Amino acid sequence: MNYKELGDTGIQISEIGLGTWNYRGWIKPIKTAIELGATLIDTAEGYYTEDIVGQAIKGIREKVFIATKVSGRHLGYRDVLKSAEDSLYELNIDYIDLYQIHWPNTVYPIQETMKAMEKLIEDGLVKFIGVSNFSLDEMKEAQYYLNNHKIVSNQVLYNLNHRDIEKDLIPYCNNNKITIIAYTPLDSGNLTKKGLLNRRSNEVLEQVAQDENKTMSQVALNWCNSRQCVVCIPKSNSADKTAENCGGSGWRLKKENIDRLDEAFSF
Ligand SMILES: NC(=O)c1ccc[n+]([C@@H]2O[C@H](COP(=O)([O-])OP(=O)(O)OC[C@H]3O[C@@H](n4cnc5c(N)ncnc54)[C@H](OP(=O)(O)O)[C@@H]3O)[C@@H](O)[C@H]2O)c1
Repeated sequence: MNYKELGDTGIQISEIGLGTWNYRGWIKPIKTAIELGATLIDTAEGYYTEDIVGQAIKGIREKVFIATKVSGRHLGYRDVLKSAEDSLYELNIDYIDLYQIHWPNTVYPIQETMKAMEKLIEDGLVKFIGVSNFSLDEMKEAQYYLNNHKIVSNQVLYNLNHRDIEKDLIPYCNNNKITIIAYTPLDSGNLTKKGLLNRRSNEVLEQVAQDENKTMSQVALNWCNSRQCVVCIPKSNSADKTAENCGGSGWRLKKENIDRLDEAFSF
């Protein structure tokens, strides 16, 4: 497993983590991921998987990096503090490594939300602040209202079929040392299946997988991580597929294959 620095924090996180939205895999896939070095575990108060993550990491808390999220419906000052407390309880841990705002919501003044996020750091309940589904302008505005801390990550949709963030967010995050946590990196499984969606592009993915002696999912994940500031969080209910996905790291696609994929999926 390869590791990358989270933002400019000096903390290393696994470039493949584990997503837990719609997760029904119980404890084994999570433990498998951790054993294979995928120590970044992503959850959210809205996923109702914090309790299972908590059970899976019991006794190995210091080995893992726990990222969870406050719902976009709970962004008032007191709501943020309450949500964090609830997440700590569900996860059965003393601090959250990365606390992310799940999505922006203009109903709540962003300065109020960011003040609460800083309070959580000052109280030792959260180590780092992240956002999710924030545009570049929304992220800059959120950062403006932080006094003593930096936004270290933005969790957004990114995969071979969804590359919008390459226009602005990726260049900005590369230049400013902010980590992009790519969600849905397998395009909900579409990038693991032969001949699906855009036939030509999936064929190229299959050919690259053959050339690299890897599976399609491993290539799709490795492609995400070939971008300097990007790590990704695939989800699988199965321990075998989780292990397969972890095999998407520890090596790097040949430059010519990255170029082939960039070209084939540039629609
Ligand atoms: N911040 C946000 O708003 C947001 C939004 C969406 C997702 N996320 C995060 O990103 C994580 C991942 O995204 P996602 O769950 O939407 O999609 P994904 O990881 O791209 O794809 C998950 C799907 O792919 C299948 N799959 C996984 N590995 C496979 C493999 N090796 N071979 C074949 N099929 C495989 C899974 O099936 P099985 O489970 O049956 O194996 C599941 O149906 C989420 O769990 C969540 O943590 C965040």
